[in-house]
Amino acid sequence: MIKIIDCGSQLTQNIARRVRELGVFSEIVPFNSSLEEIINRDVEGVILSGGQFSVYDEGSPLYDHRVLSSGKPVLGICYGHQSIAHILGGNVAPTDSREYGETSVTIESESPLFTDIPKTEFRVWMSHGDIVHKEPSGFEVLARSANGHIAAMQKGNIFSVQFHPEVDHTEYGRQVLSNFLNICKATRNWNPEKDYERIVGETREKVKGRVGIGGISGGVDSSAVSVLVKNIAGENYAPIFIDNGLLRLNEAEEVRKSLEQFNLNIRYVDASERFVSRLRGVTNPDAKRSIIGHEFIAAFEEEAEKIDGASYLVQGTLYPDVIESVPIYGSSSKIKRHHNVGGLPEKISLEIVEPFRNMFKDEVRKIAEHKLGMPKEIVWRHPFPGPGLAVRIVGSDVTPEKLAIVRNADAIFLQELRDRGLYYKIDQAFAGLLNSHSTGVMGDAASYEGIIGLRAVVTDDFMTADWYGFEKEDMTAVSNRIINEVKGVNRVFYDQSQKPPATIEWE
Ligand code: XMP
Repeated sequence: MIKIIDCGSQLTQNIARRVRELGVFSEIVPFNSSLEEIINRDVEGVILSGGQFSVYDEGSPLYDHRVLSSGKPVLGICYGHQSIAHILGGNVAPTDSREYGETSVTIESESPLFTDIPKTEFRVWMSHGDIVHKEPSGFEVLARSANGHIAAMQKGNIFSVQFHPEVDHTEYGRQVLSNFLNICKATRNWNPEKDYERIVGETREKVKGRVGIGGISGGVDSSAVSVLVKNIAGENYAPIFIDNGLLRLNEAEEVRKSLEQFNLNIRYVDASERFVSRLRGVTNPDAKRSIIGHEFIAAFEEEAEKIDGASYLVQGTLYPDVIESVPIYGSSSKIKRHHNVGGLPEKISLEIVEPFRNMFKDEVRKIAEHKLGMPKEIVWRHPFPGPGLAVRIVGSDVTPEKLAIVRNADAIFLQELRDRGLYYKIDQAFAGLLNSHSTGVMGDAASYEGIIGLRAVVTDDFMTADWYGFEKEDMTAVSNRIINEVKGVNRVFYDQSQKPPATIEWE
């Protein structure tokens, strides 16, 4: 098992996912964990994540230094690299030639970290202000960046890299991580499907003979968890679907159809009126999220009260939600609010059952597909944010008219993607209504109407993402249809921003 020390990077999860993809179980611990929490007999190696801090910042996340003398192999990434230099007596300094985004590194010295990398110069992704100006004594510089900065160093089984091997933009990033796992002699036996029996056993212990409820949204996480619990608890388990009026076109109906075969007996609650009326006049995205969260709890509680004797609440919580809930750094709060829409657990005094809390989304997808026999439409359904179309009416308030515009434009976009065989090549696509109007000509008259933005990204983890490169013909068909068929729109933009630095949603 590999322990990953989170020093405050939004990419820490990527490291954990990559390591698991390479067949080794990994776990993330906050930087301020005790040495005993980080190092134990099962731990085969330690990875120090990046972070947004300088080692000189007051309160910068410095982990227990003894990690570096524990004898376990260590790999420091970005801030982790700089922290190793700082702790072991090297010199870290700010630089004028900051490196953000894509750059290249050149290998200068052979090292097991670079085994099977066929080129001496390769493309990497970096994001840092400080550099390791001077390596600590005894360290060998393994690679330098295009600017001549130290890009990798090693002493014994302590390795560090300034670049991010955990992002796709880094060529041979997986190879670097895999090499580190070989250095650790890590056991490559992790497979989420093998863990399924354990999950079923544990869930059965929790729910047997008891009545429970759960929320279901049609996304893969909540659907898979509902099927899993339904298989165990049968009629004692009641999944609840709240229609908040902010869903995609025909969402509730599509979900109902796709899940029919599992006899989930879902309780559908149409609460659209209360959500949409409370959102009137609200433009701030955080305020929208908060209102939607409160209404969700209220609507859910009302339905839950109708179910006699419920004593547990099933949630499709995933590992990223658990990690993001660790309040160790400022940036976590933004991500956290994404996933805890509802804040249900705090409000409802039921035992929480979260069978997938140690799993990443791709791992749940494997279980859903291969163990639960769930259909492709659910397993590979594009994710949809809890606050729904409200956050896709960007910077202005939610009204039934704007909802109709964004919902119809979105439906056209998704339908075209399906018809053109592109839906499953793209991981998430949507339309949003921008907070602006533009001039145009419609027929003979001038028009002044709304602008639809389109986003389509390719990603395997939603932490980093690239925009999808459409053929002109496909984009033309989509934009023509939207402009012709959606009243109130005369212009369509396509978002060509990578994440990072952009996010997937706009808000
Ligand atoms: P960002 O915009 O942070 O989004 O790049 C990453 C992924 O998270 C989804 N997302 C949400 N999912 N509740 C959710 O369940 C939310 O409030 C929420 N906000 C964003 C987003 O659609 C993308 O897949």
